[in-house]
Amino acid sequence: MCGIVGFVGKKQASPILIEGLSKLEYRGYDSAGVAVIDKDHINVVKCKGRLENLENKLSKHPLKGIVGIGHTRWATHGKPSDINAHPHNSQDGTISVVHNGIVENYLQLREWLMSKGYKFVSETDTEVIPQLIEYFYKGDIVEAVIRAISKIKGSYAIGVICSKEPGKLVAVRKDSPLIVGLGKNEYYIASDIPAVLNHTRDIYLLNDNEFAVITENGVKLLSEDKKEVKKDIYHVTWSANAAEKGGFEHFMMKEIHEQPKAIRDTMTSRIMPGKPVTLDDIKLTKEQIENIDKIYIVACGTAYHAGIVGKYVIEKLVRMPVEVDIASEFRYRNPIINKRTLMIIISQSGETADTLAALREAKKRGARVIAVTNVVGSSVSREADDILYTWAGPEIAVASTKAYVTQLIAIYIIALFFAQHKNTLSSEKIESIKKEMLSLPIKAEKVLGNKEIIQEMAEKIYKNKDIFFLGRGLDYAVALEGSLKLKEISYIHSEAYAGGELKHGPIALIEDGTVVIAGATQENLIKKMVSNIEEVTTRGAKVLAFTFEGNKDVERAADYVIYLPKTMDIFAPVLAVIPLQLLAYYISIKKGCDVDKPRNLAKSVTVE
Ligand code: M6R
Repeated sequence: MCGIVGFVGKKQASPILIEGLSKLEYRGYDSAGVAVIDKDHINVVKCKGRLENLENKLSKHPLKGIVGIGHTRWATHGKPSDINAHPHNSQDGTISVVHNGIVENYLQLREWLMSKGYKFVSETDTEVIPQLIEYFYKGDIVEAVIRAISKIKGSYAIGVICSKEPGKLVAVRKDSPLIVGLGKNEYYIASDIPAVLNHTRDIYLLNDNEFAVITENGVKLLSEDKKEVKKDIYHVTWSANAAEKGGFEHFMMKEIHEQPKAIRDTMTSRIMPGKPVTLDDIKLTKEQIENIDKIYIVACGTAYHAGIVGKYVIEKLVRMPVEVDIASEFRYRNPIINKRTLMIIISQSGETADTLAALREAKKRGARVIAVTNVVGSSVSREADDILYTWAGPEIAVASTKAYVTQLIAIYIIALFFAQHKNTLSSEKIESIKKEMLSLPIKAEKVLGNKEIIQEMAEKIYKNKDIFFLGRGLDYAVALEGSLKLKEISYIHSEAYAGGELKHGPIALIEDGTVVIAGATQENLIKKMVSNIEEVTTRGAKVLAFTFEGNKDVERAADYVIYLPKTMDIFAPVLAVIPLQLLAYYISIKKGCDVDKPRNLAKSVTVE
C-alpha cells in the first residue's frame, strides 16, 4: 500500500505535494518522490527512506512548476530503493505516474512492451503503466490513459502527468482509494482525505473506473467510455486538526485518548434511552432477519479480534450461531454460505484486500453483507448491502486503537438491533443494556485517568523478551488484542492463550520472572482465572491482572492489579483494552521504537 497525491493550481506544486505526503506517510514510508512539470519538461526527485530524505534532496534541487504528483511507498514489487521509488516515467520522459495497488499482469505487459522496444529501469510493476500510456499516446493523454488502463489487471489508484499537456493531471482508481479535493482554482488528488484537509473540505469520492481530468479550470469526471459523470460533492465535517497529533507526542496516544469521544459518536442517534435501536444504513427487514440462520464475522488483525468479541456477544444476546474467521483464510476455504447467511465484515480502512475479497466471495454465494467500517466511501462500504460506520474519525497510527473500541460498539449495536427484532431479550433488558452502554465513555475516561500505574508497569517489564497474555471468555478476546498491540509496536515476543489451554502446553514456557498479563473480568470465570494465575505464579511468573473494582480474590493472587470501573461483563473489552494499549505504548517508548510507524507494517494492507 502507498499514498499518492497530486496538485494542479497557480502555486508551486512541490511544497503542497510534500505537505500532502506527510499526512499519508502512514500508508507507506520506505521511499518517496515527486514529479513536477516545468514548462515542457517533467522533473522527478525521489529517494529511498522517509519523507525527510526527499525534503533534504528537494532543498538541494528545488522543483519549479504548478502541476505535479507525489508518492509515499510501501514496497510490494521491488525492494525499497531510489530507482523503485515513484513517480515512474515513461521511456521518453514525457509521462510520469504515481500508483497505489498492484498490476497483476505486469510481467506479460512488460514482455510485450519490451518486444516493442521499451526498456525498463526499475523492478516495479508500476513502471509498465507510464510505458503503456506513452505507447498509446497520440496527442490525447486522457485517451492514452483510458487505453492503458484497459490493459491492466489488478488494483490501482494512479495519478498521471504528461509534459506534452503540461496543465493537466489525470487520475483513475480501481480497488484502491482515491479522492479529488476541490479548492479555489486549485485541485488535488489523494489516497486519503487528511492529505487535502489543509486546503479544502470539498471532495469527490471517486468510484472504481472513474477518471478525473483536472486542469486549472476545474475537474471533469469521466467513465471509461468517456461519458461525463455527475457526482455530489462530499463535504468533510471533521477538522484538519482531527488529522493532526493534537498536542500528543504520537498519533497512537492521541487516538487512545479520543476513545471516549469515538465511543460516544458511534452510539449517537443509534442508542437512545426509551427508543428502539435505529440504523439508517441497515435496510434488513424483520423478515430478512428471521430468515438468517448463520452469521459469519470476517476481518483481519485487530478488526478480527473485535469479531471474536462479536461472536461471544451476538451468541449471548441473539442466540444465533456465529462463526468468526480471518479474511485470508475465509476467502480460500470454500466456506458454507447461502442466502440465509449473514456476513459481518469489519474493517477500519474498508480497503483491506483479503477482507474485500472475502466480502465479494460471500456476496457471490448469495450472502447478505453488513460492513462495519470507519471510512466513508471505502471499497467495503460501497460493496456491502448494509453499512454501519464507526465514527472514530481518521486513525493514523498503524496500531489500531480507537477503531477497535468503536468496532466493539458497532457489534453491540448490531446485537441489540437483532435482539430487538428477534425478541431474544425483553425490552427492559435492552433498556438496561443501553443505559450501561451510554455510560461507557465516562468509564473509559476514568480508565485513561489512571495512566501512571501503567507507565510504572511498563518501566518494570519493558526489558522482558516474552510477555504472555491469558484470559477466558471475553478476556481471552481482549488478551489477543493486547498481545497484538504489544508485539506490533514494541517488538517483544508475545502470545495470548485461553486460560483453559494453559495446561495443554503453554505452561511449559513459564519460568522464574516470566511476565503474564491476566484478564479476570468475567464473573462466571473469575475463580477459574484465579486458579490460572496461581498456576503461573507458583512457577515463578510475575502476574499483572486486570479486573473490576472490588475483586479482592484477583488482588490476592496477582502481583499487580489494574482496576477497571464496574460495567456489564459484555462491555469489559471496551474498558480492559485501554490499559493494554497504554502498556504497549509506554513499553514501545521505553524501548525507543517508532510507535506510530512500526517496522515492516503499513496502516492498511491493500495487497495480499
Ligand atoms: O483496516 P482494517 O481494519 O481492515 O485493517 C485490519 C488490520 O490490518 C489491522 O487491524 C491491523 O491488524 C492493525 N495494525 C492492528 O493494530
